[in-house]
Amino acid sequence: MAVVKIEHPPGCECDYCPGAREVLRIPPEGTPGSPEQQMNRNLSAAKAAKQDEFYTQYVDIQKEVEAYLELDPETFCGKVVYCNCDDPFESNFFKYFAANFNRLGLKKLVTTSYDGSPIAGAQLTFLEYDEGNGKRQKPKAISVEIEEVKDVNGDGATGIEDVKLFLEQNPHTRTPLAQGGDFRSPECIALLKEADIVVTNPPFSLFKEYVAQLVEHAKKFLIIGPKNAITYKEIFPLIKDTKLWLGSGFANGNAYFSIPADSGREFAAGVYDESTGLVKFRNVGWFTNLDHGRRHQELPLMTMADNLKFSKNLRGKSGYDRYKNYDAIEVGTYKEIPSDYEGVMGVPVTFLDKYNPDQFEIVGNSDDGGMMRDIGVRPLGHEFIRAYRARGGTGHYSPGMRMLGLIEPQARVIFKRILIRHRRCARATKLSHT
Ligand SMILES: C[S@@+](CC[C@H](N)C(=O)[O-])C[C@H]1O[C@@H](n2cnc3c(N)ncnc32)[C@H](O)[C@@H]1O
Repeated sequence: MAVVKIEHPPGCECDYCPGAREVLRIPPEGTPGSPEQQMNRNLSAAKAAKQDEFYTQYVDIQKEVEAYLELDPETFCGKVVYCNCDDPFESNFFKYFAANFNRLGLKKLVTTSYDGSPIAGAQLTFLEYDEGNGKRQKPKAISVEIEEVKDVNGDGATGIEDVKLFLEQNPHTRTPLAQGGDFRSPECIALLKEADIVVTNPPFSLFKEYVAQLVEHAKKFLIIGPKNAITYKEIFPLIKDTKLWLGSGFANGNAYFSIPADSGREFAAGVYDESTGLVKFRNVGWFTNLDHGRRHQELPLMTMADNLKFSKNLRGKSGYDRYKNYDAIEVGTYKEIPSDYEGVMGVPVTFLDKYNPDQFEIVGNSDDGGMMRDIGVRPLGHEFIRAYRARGGTGHYSPGMRMLGLIEPQARVIFKRILIRHRRCARATKLSHT
Protein backbone atom coordinates (compact mmCIF):
# COMPACT_ATOMS: atom_id res chain seq x y z
CA MET A 1 0.00 0.00 0.00
CA ALA A 2 1.34 3.44 -0.92
CA VAL A 3 1.94 5.72 2.03
CA VAL A 4 1.28 9.41 2.10
CA LYS A 5 2.36 11.93 4.72
CA ILE A 6 -0.93 13.13 6.22
CA GLU A 7 -3.74 11.55 8.08
CA HIS A 8 -5.46 14.82 8.82
CA PRO A 9 -8.92 15.67 7.55
CA PRO A 10 -9.20 17.52 4.27
CA GLY A 11 -9.20 21.23 4.89
CA CYS A 12 -6.97 20.83 7.92
CA GLU A 13 -4.85 23.95 8.44
CA CYS A 14 -2.86 22.74 11.39
CA ASP A 15 0.81 23.48 11.73
CA TYR A 16 1.68 19.90 10.86
CA CYS A 17 -0.13 19.94 7.53
CA PRO A 18 1.99 22.07 5.18
CA GLY A 19 0.62 20.07 2.22
CA ALA A 20 -2.93 20.79 3.19
CA ARG A 21 -2.16 24.45 3.70
CA GLU A 22 -0.66 24.62 0.25
CA VAL A 23 -3.78 23.07 -1.19
CA LEU A 24 -6.07 25.48 0.56
CA ARG A 25 -4.33 28.76 -0.14
CA ILE A 26 -5.69 29.11 -3.64
CA PRO A 27 -5.66 32.66 -4.98
CA PRO A 28 -8.95 33.71 -6.59
CA GLU A 29 -9.41 33.18 -10.29
CA GLY A 30 -7.96 35.96 -12.39
CA THR A 31 -4.99 36.48 -10.03
CA PRO A 32 -2.11 37.42 -12.31
CA GLY A 33 0.89 35.12 -12.56
CA SER A 34 3.05 33.15 -14.97
CA PRO A 35 1.47 30.27 -16.93
CA GLU A 36 3.41 27.95 -14.62
CA GLN A 37 1.91 29.61 -11.53
CA GLN A 38 -1.52 29.43 -13.13
CA MET A 39 -1.03 25.73 -13.81
CA ASN A 40 0.06 25.14 -10.20
CA ARG A 41 -3.02 26.97 -9.04
CA ASN A 42 -5.26 24.81 -11.21
CA LEU A 43 -3.56 21.70 -9.87
CA SER A 44 -4.03 22.93 -6.30
CA ALA A 45 -7.70 23.67 -6.96
CA ALA A 46 -8.16 20.19 -8.45
CA LYS A 47 -6.41 18.64 -5.45
CA ALA A 48 -8.59 20.61 -3.00
CA ALA A 49 -11.73 19.54 -4.90
CA LYS A 50 -10.62 15.92 -4.71
CA GLN A 51 -10.00 16.25 -0.96
CA ASP A 52 -13.56 17.56 -0.55
CA GLU A 53 -15.06 14.32 -1.80
CA PHE A 54 -15.96 12.13 1.14
CA TYR A 55 -19.44 11.13 2.10
CA THR A 56 -21.24 10.95 5.41
CA GLN A 57 -22.72 7.71 6.67
CA TYR A 58 -26.44 7.46 7.35
CA VAL A 59 -25.89 6.17 10.89
CA ASP A 60 -23.78 9.21 11.86
CA ILE A 61 -26.47 11.61 10.67
CA GLN A 62 -29.10 9.62 12.49
CA LYS A 63 -27.13 9.57 15.76
CA GLU A 64 -26.40 13.28 15.62
CA VAL A 65 -29.98 14.31 14.84
CA GLU A 66 -31.24 12.09 17.68
CA ALA A 67 -29.13 14.10 20.15
CA TYR A 68 -31.14 17.23 19.30
CA LEU A 69 -34.46 15.43 19.35
CA GLU A 70 -33.67 14.09 22.82
CA LEU A 71 -33.55 17.64 24.13
CA ASP A 72 -36.37 18.95 21.97
CA PRO A 73 -38.42 16.50 19.89
CA GLU A 74 -39.78 19.49 17.93
CA THR A 75 -36.34 20.67 16.73
CA PHE A 76 -37.19 20.04 13.07
CA CYS A 77 -40.97 20.28 13.30
CA GLY A 78 -42.52 22.60 10.71
CA LYS A 79 -39.06 23.50 9.39
CA VAL A 80 -37.64 23.78 5.89
CA VAL A 81 -34.44 21.73 5.90
CA TYR A 82 -31.88 22.52 3.21
CA CYS A 83 -28.96 20.24 2.30
CA ASN A 84 -26.94 22.40 -0.07
CA CYS A 85 -23.88 20.27 -0.83
CA ASP A 86 -25.73 17.08 -1.53
CA ASP A 87 -26.43 15.06 -4.60
CA PRO A 88 -29.91 13.80 -3.70
CA PHE A 89 -29.17 10.51 -5.46
CA GLU A 90 -26.12 9.91 -3.30
CA SER A 91 -26.40 11.88 -0.11
CA ASN A 92 -27.33 10.21 3.12
CA PHE A 93 -28.44 13.62 4.37
CA PHE A 94 -31.14 13.61 1.71
CA LYS A 95 -31.93 9.98 2.42
CA TYR A 96 -32.17 10.50 6.17
CA PHE A 97 -34.40 13.57 6.02
CA ALA A 98 -36.58 12.14 3.25
CA ALA A 99 -37.02 8.83 5.07
CA ASN A 100 -37.81 10.62 8.35
CA PHE A 101 -39.80 13.47 6.80
CA ASN A 102 -43.02 12.65 8.67
CA ARG A 103 -41.43 11.54 11.92
CA LEU A 104 -39.51 14.82 12.18
CA GLY A 105 -42.56 16.79 11.03
CA LEU A 106 -40.67 18.62 8.29
CA LYS A 107 -42.42 21.27 6.27
CA LYS A 108 -40.12 20.87 3.30
CA LEU A 109 -36.83 19.23 2.31
CA VAL A 110 -34.67 20.97 -0.28
CA THR A 111 -31.47 19.41 -1.61
CA THR A 112 -29.08 20.85 -4.17
CA SER A 113 -26.15 19.11 -5.79
CA TYR A 114 -22.98 20.55 -7.22
CA ASP A 115 -22.03 20.30 -10.88
CA GLY A 116 -19.27 17.79 -11.31
CA SER A 117 -19.42 16.09 -7.90
CA PRO A 118 -18.10 12.62 -8.63
CA ILE A 119 -20.41 9.71 -8.10
CA ALA A 120 -19.90 7.80 -4.87
CA GLY A 121 -22.25 4.89 -4.94
CA ALA A 122 -25.22 5.60 -7.22
CA GLN A 123 -27.76 5.11 -4.46
CA LEU A 124 -30.90 6.21 -6.30
CA THR A 125 -31.04 6.12 -10.07
CA PHE A 126 -33.59 7.67 -12.39
CA LEU A 127 -34.22 7.27 -16.07
CA GLU A 128 -32.71 10.59 -17.07
CA TYR A 129 -29.44 9.60 -15.33
CA ASP A 130 -29.17 6.27 -17.09
CA GLU A 131 -26.36 6.34 -19.60
CA GLY A 132 -27.14 2.85 -20.84
CA ASN A 133 -25.30 -0.41 -20.11
CA GLY A 134 -26.35 -0.02 -16.48
CA LYS A 135 -24.09 3.01 -16.12
CA ARG A 136 -25.13 6.26 -14.60
CA GLN A 137 -24.09 9.50 -16.25
CA LYS A 138 -22.40 12.21 -14.23
CA PRO A 139 -25.25 14.27 -12.85
CA LYS A 140 -25.62 17.95 -13.57
CA ALA A 141 -26.50 20.19 -10.65
CA ILE A 142 -30.13 19.91 -9.66
CA SER A 143 -32.42 20.79 -6.82
CA VAL A 144 -34.98 18.41 -5.40
CA GLU A 145 -37.80 19.73 -3.27
CA ILE A 146 -40.14 17.53 -1.27
CA GLU A 147 -43.16 18.86 0.56
CA GLU A 148 -44.79 15.60 1.60
CA VAL A 149 -43.98 11.91 1.83
CA LYS A 150 -46.91 9.55 1.42
CA ASP A 151 -47.11 5.79 1.52
CA VAL A 152 -46.79 5.57 -2.29
CA ASN A 153 -45.99 1.85 -2.40
CA GLY A 154 -48.84 1.04 -0.02
CA ASP A 155 -46.76 -1.02 2.40
CA GLY A 156 -48.32 0.71 5.38
CA ALA A 157 -45.26 2.87 6.19
CA THR A 158 -43.46 5.85 4.72
CA GLY A 159 -39.76 5.63 3.96
CA ILE A 160 -37.06 6.09 1.37
CA GLU A 161 -38.72 3.65 -1.05
CA ASP A 162 -41.77 5.90 -1.11
CA VAL A 163 -39.55 8.91 -1.77
CA LYS A 164 -37.91 7.07 -4.65
CA LEU A 165 -41.25 6.14 -6.16
CA PHE A 166 -42.58 9.64 -5.64
CA LEU A 167 -39.57 11.18 -7.36
CA GLU A 168 -39.85 8.71 -10.25
CA GLN A 169 -43.52 9.54 -10.71
CA ASN A 170 -42.98 13.30 -10.30
CA PRO A 171 -40.02 14.42 -12.39
CA HIS A 172 -41.11 18.06 -11.87
CA THR A 173 -39.75 17.84 -8.29
CA ARG A 174 -36.25 17.88 -9.81
CA THR A 175 -35.10 21.19 -11.24
CA PRO A 176 -31.82 21.70 -13.13
CA LEU A 177 -29.68 24.42 -11.56
CA ALA A 178 -28.45 26.80 -14.25
CA GLN A 179 -25.73 28.22 -11.98
CA GLY A 180 -24.04 24.90 -11.21
CA GLY A 181 -25.26 24.32 -7.64
CA ASP A 182 -22.46 26.28 -5.97
CA PHE A 183 -23.76 27.10 -2.49
CA ARG A 184 -22.70 30.70 -3.14
CA SER A 185 -24.66 31.04 -6.38
CA PRO A 186 -27.69 33.38 -6.38
CA GLU A 187 -29.92 30.40 -7.20
CA CYS A 188 -28.76 28.50 -4.10
CA ILE A 189 -28.80 31.61 -1.93
CA ALA A 190 -32.46 32.12 -2.89
CA LEU A 191 -33.16 28.59 -1.61
CA LEU A 192 -31.08 29.27 1.49
CA LYS A 193 -33.19 32.31 2.29
CA GLU A 194 -36.30 30.12 2.32
CA ALA A 195 -34.70 27.53 4.59
CA ASP A 196 -34.88 27.27 8.38
CA ILE A 197 -32.13 24.74 9.06
CA VAL A 198 -29.16 23.84 6.88
CA VAL A 199 -27.79 20.36 7.42
CA THR A 200 -24.86 18.92 5.49
CA ASN A 201 -21.21 18.07 5.28
CA PRO A 202 -19.85 20.95 3.15
CA PRO A 203 -16.51 21.11 1.28
CA PHE A 204 -13.86 21.62 3.98
CA SER A 205 -11.74 23.72 1.64
CA LEU A 206 -14.52 26.33 1.72
CA PHE A 207 -15.51 25.90 5.36
CA LYS A 208 -14.89 29.49 6.51
CA GLU A 209 -16.84 30.90 3.60
CA TYR A 210 -19.57 28.35 4.11
CA VAL A 211 -20.06 29.26 7.78
CA ALA A 212 -19.84 32.99 7.01
CA GLN A 213 -22.72 32.63 4.57
CA LEU A 214 -24.88 30.80 7.12
CA VAL A 215 -24.17 33.48 9.71
CA GLU A 216 -24.85 36.28 7.23
CA HIS A 217 -28.26 34.80 6.52
CA ALA A 218 -28.93 34.07 10.21
CA LYS A 219 -29.63 30.39 9.58
CA LYS A 220 -29.82 27.53 12.01
CA PHE A 221 -27.38 24.83 10.98
CA LEU A 222 -25.97 21.41 11.72
CA ILE A 223 -22.87 20.78 9.65
CA ILE A 224 -19.71 18.70 9.67
CA GLY A 225 -16.34 20.44 9.64
CA PRO A 226 -12.65 20.13 10.47
CA LYS A 227 -12.04 20.59 14.19
CA ASN A 228 -9.01 22.75 13.41
CA ALA A 229 -11.50 25.36 12.26
CA ILE A 230 -12.31 25.98 15.94
CA THR A 231 -9.33 28.30 16.31
CA TYR A 232 -9.69 30.08 12.96
CA LYS A 233 -10.14 33.75 13.63
CA GLU A 234 -13.34 33.71 11.54
CA ILE A 235 -14.85 30.83 13.56
CA PHE A 236 -13.63 31.23 17.13
CA PRO A 237 -15.43 34.52 17.88
CA LEU A 238 -18.70 32.74 17.03
CA ILE A 239 -17.85 30.02 19.57
CA LYS A 240 -16.84 32.61 22.16
CA ASP A 241 -20.14 34.46 21.72
CA THR A 242 -22.12 31.16 21.84
CA LYS A 243 -23.36 31.63 18.29
CA LEU A 244 -21.81 28.32 17.25
CA TRP A 245 -20.79 25.25 19.24
CA LEU A 246 -19.74 21.67 18.75
CA GLY A 247 -22.44 19.09 18.19
CA SER A 248 -22.93 15.87 20.02
CA GLY A 249 -20.10 14.31 18.03
CA PHE A 250 -18.81 11.11 16.47
CA ALA A 251 -18.36 8.02 18.62
CA ASN A 252 -14.95 8.23 20.40
CA GLY A 253 -13.97 11.12 18.13
CA ASN A 254 -13.53 8.78 15.16
CA ALA A 255 -15.43 9.80 12.04
CA TYR A 256 -15.70 7.34 9.13
CA PHE A 257 -16.63 8.53 5.65
CA SER A 258 -16.91 6.80 2.30
CA ILE A 259 -14.86 8.07 -0.62
CA PRO A 260 -15.40 7.59 -4.35
CA ALA A 261 -14.13 4.17 -5.39
CA ASP A 262 -11.83 5.64 -8.04
CA SER A 263 -10.62 8.55 -5.89
CA GLY A 264 -6.96 7.66 -6.43
CA ARG A 265 -6.19 9.12 -3.01
CA GLU A 266 -3.61 7.56 -0.78
CA PHE A 267 -3.75 7.33 2.98
CA ALA A 268 -1.44 6.32 5.77
CA ALA A 269 -1.79 2.77 7.03
CA GLY A 270 -4.92 2.25 9.08
CA VAL A 271 -6.76 5.28 7.69
CA TYR A 272 -8.50 3.72 4.70
CA ASP A 273 -10.24 0.36 4.94
CA GLU A 274 -10.52 -1.18 1.50
CA SER A 275 -13.08 -3.75 2.60
CA THR A 276 -15.58 -1.09 3.73
CA GLY A 277 -14.46 1.77 1.48
CA LEU A 278 -14.41 3.96 4.59
CA VAL A 279 -11.74 6.44 5.55
CA LYS A 280 -11.19 7.42 9.19
CA PHE A 281 -10.63 11.01 10.30
CA ARG A 282 -9.80 11.82 13.92
CA ASN A 283 -10.22 15.54 13.79
CA VAL A 284 -13.66 16.11 12.34
CA GLY A 285 -16.76 17.20 14.21
CA TRP A 286 -20.26 18.58 14.03
CA PHE A 287 -20.69 22.36 14.24
CA THR A 288 -24.09 23.74 15.07
CA ASN A 289 -26.24 26.44 16.61
CA LEU A 290 -29.00 23.99 17.51
CA ASP A 291 -29.27 23.08 21.15
CA HIS A 292 -28.47 19.59 22.41
CA GLY A 293 -28.39 18.00 25.85
CA ARG A 294 -24.66 17.32 26.15
CA ARG A 295 -23.83 21.03 26.27
CA HIS A 296 -25.95 21.41 29.39
CA GLN A 297 -24.31 18.60 31.31
CA GLU A 298 -22.05 19.91 34.05
CA LEU A 299 -18.44 18.77 33.78
CA PRO A 300 -17.57 17.05 37.08
CA LEU A 301 -14.38 18.57 38.53
CA MET A 302 -12.07 18.23 41.52
CA THR A 303 -10.76 21.10 43.62
CA MET A 304 -7.29 22.46 42.96
CA ALA A 305 -5.94 20.76 46.09
CA ASP A 306 -7.38 17.40 45.05
CA ASN A 307 -6.05 17.75 41.52
CA LEU A 308 -2.58 18.44 42.91
CA LYS A 309 -2.90 15.37 45.09
CA PHE A 310 -4.48 12.91 42.66
CA SER A 311 -4.06 14.05 39.02
CA LYS A 312 -1.39 12.17 37.10
CA ASN A 313 0.19 15.25 35.47
CA LEU A 314 0.15 17.37 38.61
CA ARG A 315 1.22 14.97 41.31
CA GLY A 316 4.26 16.26 43.18
CA LYS A 317 3.76 19.88 42.07
CA SER A 318 3.11 22.64 44.57
CA GLY A 319 0.77 24.47 42.21
CA TYR A 320 -0.44 24.78 38.61
CA ASP A 321 2.01 26.41 36.17
CA ARG A 322 1.29 30.08 35.51
CA TYR A 323 1.91 31.87 32.23
CA LYS A 324 4.77 34.36 32.29
CA ASN A 325 2.94 37.00 30.30
CA TYR A 326 -0.71 36.61 31.34
CA ASP A 327 -2.48 36.12 34.62
CA ALA A 328 -3.80 32.60 34.07
CA ILE A 329 -2.92 29.02 34.93
CA GLU A 330 -2.00 26.28 32.47
CA VAL A 331 -4.33 23.26 32.60
CA GLY A 332 -3.04 20.41 30.43
CA THR A 333 -6.34 18.54 30.13
CA TYR A 334 -9.99 19.46 30.77
CA LYS A 335 -10.05 16.76 33.46
CA GLU A 336 -7.69 18.86 35.58
CA ILE A 337 -9.73 22.06 35.51
CA PRO A 338 -9.96 23.00 39.19
CA SER A 339 -13.49 23.51 40.43
CA ASP A 340 -12.49 26.26 42.84
CA TYR A 341 -10.11 28.46 40.83
CA GLU A 342 -11.53 31.92 40.33
CA GLY A 343 -9.24 33.20 37.60
CA VAL A 344 -8.56 32.49 33.92
CA MET A 345 -7.33 29.02 32.83
CA GLY A 346 -5.68 27.91 29.59
CA VAL A 347 -7.11 24.58 28.40
CA PRO A 348 -6.58 22.49 25.24
CA VAL A 349 -9.07 22.81 22.38
CA THR A 350 -10.54 19.39 23.25
CA PHE A 351 -12.22 21.17 26.18
CA LEU A 352 -14.88 22.32 23.72
CA ASP A 353 -16.21 18.77 23.48
CA LYS A 354 -17.19 19.18 27.14
CA TYR A 355 -18.03 22.87 27.08
CA ASN A 356 -21.16 23.80 28.99
CA PRO A 357 -21.86 27.53 28.51
CA ASP A 358 -23.73 27.68 31.82
CA GLN A 359 -20.62 26.44 33.62
CA PHE A 360 -17.82 28.26 31.77
CA GLU A 361 -17.17 31.49 29.95
CA ILE A 362 -14.71 31.60 27.07
CA VAL A 363 -12.23 34.45 27.34
CA GLY A 364 -9.92 33.98 24.33
CA ASN A 365 -8.04 31.87 21.85
CA SER A 366 -4.25 31.77 22.03
CA ASP A 367 -3.95 31.31 18.26
CA ASP A 368 -5.35 34.78 17.63
CA GLY A 369 -2.68 37.43 18.31
CA GLY A 370 -5.21 40.27 18.06
CA MET A 371 -7.50 38.66 20.60
CA MET A 372 -4.53 37.97 22.90
CA ARG A 373 -3.58 41.66 22.77
CA ASP A 374 -7.17 42.71 23.48
CA ILE A 375 -7.43 40.57 26.62
CA GLY A 376 -4.08 41.82 27.93
CA VAL A 377 -1.57 39.09 27.03
CA ARG A 378 1.83 40.79 27.09
CA PRO A 379 4.53 40.15 24.45
CA LEU A 380 6.87 37.26 25.31
CA GLY A 381 9.68 39.76 25.97
CA HIS A 382 13.49 39.61 25.77
CA GLU A 383 13.96 37.84 29.10
CA PHE A 384 11.71 34.96 28.00
CA ILE A 385 13.39 34.62 24.60
CA ARG A 386 16.84 34.62 26.29
CA ALA A 387 15.73 31.88 28.69
CA TYR A 388 14.19 29.95 25.79
CA ARG A 389 17.39 30.13 23.69
CA ALA A 390 19.57 29.36 26.72
CA ARG A 391 17.84 26.01 27.21
CA GLY A 392 18.33 25.20 23.50
CA GLY A 393 14.94 26.27 22.10
CA THR A 394 15.10 26.76 18.32
CA GLY A 395 11.57 27.87 17.35
CA HIS A 396 11.02 31.11 15.43
CA TYR A 397 9.90 33.25 18.34
CA SER A 398 10.61 36.89 18.92
CA PRO A 399 10.12 39.13 21.98
CA GLY A 400 7.15 40.95 20.39
CA MET A 401 4.99 37.84 19.97
CA ARG A 402 1.88 37.56 22.12
CA MET A 403 1.85 33.82 22.63
CA LEU A 404 1.37 32.12 25.97
CA GLY A 405 4.76 31.44 27.57
CA LEU A 406 5.66 29.26 30.53
CA ILE A 407 8.97 29.79 32.28
CA GLU A 408 8.86 26.83 34.72
CA PRO A 409 10.21 24.15 34.65
CA GLN A 410 11.76 25.62 31.49
CA ALA A 411 10.87 28.38 29.02
CA ARG A 412 8.38 27.14 26.42
CA VAL A 413 5.59 28.47 24.27
CA ILE A 414 2.18 26.88 24.74
CA PHE A 415 0.07 26.36 21.61
CA LYS A 416 -3.62 26.07 20.96
CA ARG A 417 -5.05 27.06 24.28
CA ILE A 418 -8.52 28.29 24.92
CA LEU A 419 -8.73 30.66 27.85
CA ILE A 420 -11.74 30.09 30.06
CA ARG A 421 -13.07 30.83 33.51
CA HIS A 422 -15.91 29.58 35.60
CA ARG A 423 -19.13 31.32 34.68
CA ARG A 424 -19.87 32.13 38.34
CA CYS A 425 -16.58 34.09 38.47
CA ALA A 426 -17.46 35.97 35.30
CA ARG A 427 -20.84 36.84 36.85
CA ALA A 428 -19.22 37.92 40.10
CA THR A 429 -16.77 40.18 38.25
CA LYS A 430 -19.61 41.79 36.31
CA LEU A 431 -21.61 42.38 39.49
CA SER A 432 -18.66 43.96 41.30
CA HIS A 433 -18.36 46.45 38.42
CA THR A 434 -22.00 47.54 38.57
C1 LIG B 1 -17.42 16.57 2.04
S1 LIG B 1 -18.41 16.27 0.61
C2 LIG B 1 -19.90 15.77 1.39
C3 LIG B 1 -20.99 15.35 0.47
C4 LIG B 1 -22.32 15.14 1.20
N1 LIG B 1 -22.78 16.37 1.78
C5 LIG B 1 -22.16 14.09 2.27
O1 LIG B 1 -22.03 14.45 3.42
O2 LIG B 1 -22.14 12.90 1.96
C6 LIG B 1 -18.72 17.93 0.09
C7 LIG B 1 -19.49 18.02 -1.20
O3 LIG B 1 -19.65 19.38 -1.57
C8 LIG B 1 -19.49 19.50 -2.97
N2 LIG B 1 -19.02 20.85 -3.27
C9 LIG B 1 -17.76 21.28 -3.50
N3 LIG B 1 -17.75 22.59 -3.73
C10 LIG B 1 -19.03 23.01 -3.63
C11 LIG B 1 -19.65 24.26 -3.78
N4 LIG B 1 -18.95 25.35 -4.06
N5 LIG B 1 -20.98 24.34 -3.62
C12 LIG B 1 -21.73 23.24 -3.32
N6 LIG B 1 -21.18 22.02 -3.17
C13 LIG B 1 -19.85 21.91 -3.32
C14 LIG B 1 -18.45 18.45 -3.32
O4 LIG B 1 -18.55 18.07 -4.66
C15 LIG B 1 -18.80 17.33 -2.35
O5 LIG B 1 -19.65 16.38 -2.91
